[in-house]
Amino acid sequence: MLDIKNLMVFFENALALNDLSMMVNEGEIVGVIGSNSAGKTTLMNTVSGLIIDMKIKEQRKGGERITVYGKITFQGEDITDVKPNDRVEKGIVLSRERHPIFPESDVMENLKIAGHMKKMSELREMTEYVFQLFPALFDLKKRKAGFLSGGEQQMLAIGMALIVKPVLLLLDEPLLGLSPHLQSALVKAIKNLRSESGITILITEQFARPVLPIIDRGYVIENGMLTLTGTGTELMENPEIKAAYFGI
Ligand SMILES: Nc1ncnc2c1ncn2[C@@H]1O[C@H](COP(=O)(O)OP(=O)(O)O)[C@@H](O)[C@H]1O
Ligand SMILES: [Mg+2]
Repeated sequence: MLDIKNLMVFFENALALNDLSMMVNEGEIVGVIGSNSAGKTTLMNTVSGLIIDMKIKEQRKGGERITVYGKITFQGEDITDVKPNDRVEKGIVLSRERHPIFPESDVMENLKIAGHMKKMSELREMTEYVFQLFPALFDLKKRKAGFLSGGEQQMLAIGMALIVKPVLLLLDEPLLGLSPHLQSALVKAIKNLRSESGITILITEQFARPVLPIIDRGYVIENGMLTLTGTGTELMENPEIKAAYFGI
């Protein structure tokens, strides 16, 4: 479904992604594991197309030069130069790390804002689905988003991505800053999301432990380069992973 070929991203002369190739099949949950500044967010920004906007913005203000090489194919179509909004139309939706929600609006309003281009009937259907997936949010419908806990905000951010009915959902470090308890609740919700709705998911994470059990396949990246790949089980049993990410 998603095919990334020989992706290279430069910020000026610094190489953030180095000849990265990976693919995601329909219905899969695929993980990208990498330590801080490995290139996870750059990868997500490139797949969602946000990097195109970043590039134009930098060009306008005469800032740093962002260069992207490689090819991204989505459902057989070359989308390398397709703008982020058009990628959303095609079903590629990114839920970013540190969730940009609207703190002054309540939970219900945030969901409506996220789904503003959807038809009323579809919006209602997807809102119900989000509440079914995250029952905690239903009880907080009227609460201002700024007063939610970190975990609740994260659920809302994912809910806002789901409202537009993604085909491919990109989750950039959704577990960042959550307590172990909330991490396992969110991981469970992500797993249910795939089994109930069939949405394909690409998820990045710094810590392998919570996500390896739910991913079908994973890629480990270091300094923008692919170092290891395998099924979730293979990665969990890999001695290097155990040493680096499990402290065994
Ligand atoms: N806008 C930017 N300008 C310059 N360098 C950047 C920019 N964004 C990311 N980088 C660099 O690219 C590398 C990858 O960063 P990032 O994709 O944010 O990693 P991660 O999300 O895995 O922590 C890092 O070395 C980071 O410093
Ligand atoms: Mg990041």
